[in-house]
Amino acid sequence: MNYPANDLERILLSEEEIKVRVESLAKQISKDYTDTPNLYLVGILKGAFIFLADLARHITVPHKVDFMALSSYGATTESTGEVRIILDLRQPVERMHILIVEDIIDTGNTVHYLQRLLKGRQPASLKTCALIKKQRNSIEVPVDYLGFTIPNVWVVGYGLDYADTYRTLPYIAELKKEIYQPR
Ligand code: PRP
Repeated sequence: MNYPANDLERILLSEEEIKVRVESLAKQISKDYTDTPNLYLVGILKGAFIFLADLARHITVPHKVDFMALSSYGATTESTGEVRIILDLRQPVERMHILIVEDIIDTGNTVHYLQRLLKGRQPASLKTCALIKKQRNSIEVPVDYLGFTIPNVWVVGYGLDYADTYRTLPYIAELKKEIYQPR
């Protein structure tokens, strides 16, 4: 992979740690949704594409997969709290058991917005699965399945980006501050 390794401060979550946790989340989800028809995994692009692909392939109960693309307005690391829909679901979700699959909860704005939006579409149920959550969020949002809690640093890899780069690193690493906070 062609990323400058010296952009990274340290590896926060190794490939193996992520694999083990994703499999355990999938196991719990499969158990909780046994005998529940119409499980509908909603992956939030772009960040969740790798997490969703790995998670879904370990979920052993029948399910469908769809995507939404959302983006926070603003600069590369500053969230303004506004969220816009770039790509919406392809079908109505009434009678569906929706599981939002998100890569990271940072301020909480995106998931807060999504939970309100999707609840309004009257699904049979609505839960949220996030791979990582930062320790401090401005909005506390309910998360039913959580992989890891991390400190308030900028992380990249396993779907997560900085300026649309580093998404395909196999691990999750802290980016050096001088990369995202240039002096
Ligand atoms: C990132 C991430 C989450 C959101 C979390 O998406 O994938 O969706 O930010 O931040 P929040 O909790 O502060 O709302 P981003 O808008 O950067 O788009 P991307 O997934 O395409 O990278």
